[in-house]
Amino acid sequence: MLRKVIAEDKKDLWDWRNDPVTVANSFDNRAIPFEEHARWFDKALKDDNRLILIGLEKKKKIGMIRFDNHGDYYEISVNMAPGFRGQGKGNQLLKESLGWVKGRILARVKKENRASIRFFEKAGFIFKKEIDSCAEFETYWPPIKPKIIENLRKI
Ligand SMILES: CC(C)(COP(=O)(O)OP(=O)(O)OC[C@H]1O[C@@H](n2cnc3c(N)ncnc32)[C@H](O)[C@@H]1OP(=O)(O)O)[C@@H](O)C(=O)NCCC(=O)NCCS
Repeated sequence: MLRKVIAEDKKDLWDWRNDPVTVANSFDNRAIPFEEHARWFDKALKDDNRLILIGLEKKKKIGMIRFDNHGDYYEISVNMAPGFRGQGKGNQLLKESLGWVKGRILARVKKENRASIRFFEKAGFIFKKEIDSCAEFETYWPPIKPKIIENLRKI
């Protein structure tokens, strides 16, 4: 299940963000000092255009999903707790999270990040374009008809 982030999640998000695999997959690929993370987190908690969801399993925190509202689309970011990766849990959380927003959802991943690309494709995201080192995928919630998606691909 998912719930909105709370102040007590600050350290977990920092730990997961600084996991080496996440650092390597991030566009800002450096470990983030705690003070910098804390400033970002405190601001994010109050930001109406940022929705951070925490995945829970038997009361354990297993990952996070973030939606940044850019007006005509949301950008999604997923980071599973290192011990809970590769078990289908990210896929479950991602599917559940889509019900929290409405409209166009974009995922931007490093184009060499095959795991994330397959992850988003498996969840029904469609490849849109590549810009420099970034591959962009999109989906809609609620889902739209395949024919419309086909036409959107051509835009
Ligand atoms: C990428 C990430 C979110 C995937 O979550 P996960 O819980 O590990 O993924 P799941 O177990 O639900 O796998 C779903 C699908 O993703 C793909 N996938 C996941 N991990 C993969 C890996 N290491 N290699 C290749 N494909 C992978 C597979 O297609 C998989 O389906 P399958 O097992 O039926 O083949 C997670 O591994 C993670 O947090 N990584 C670090 C942060 C990151 O890179 N975030 C993405 C950028 S937004």
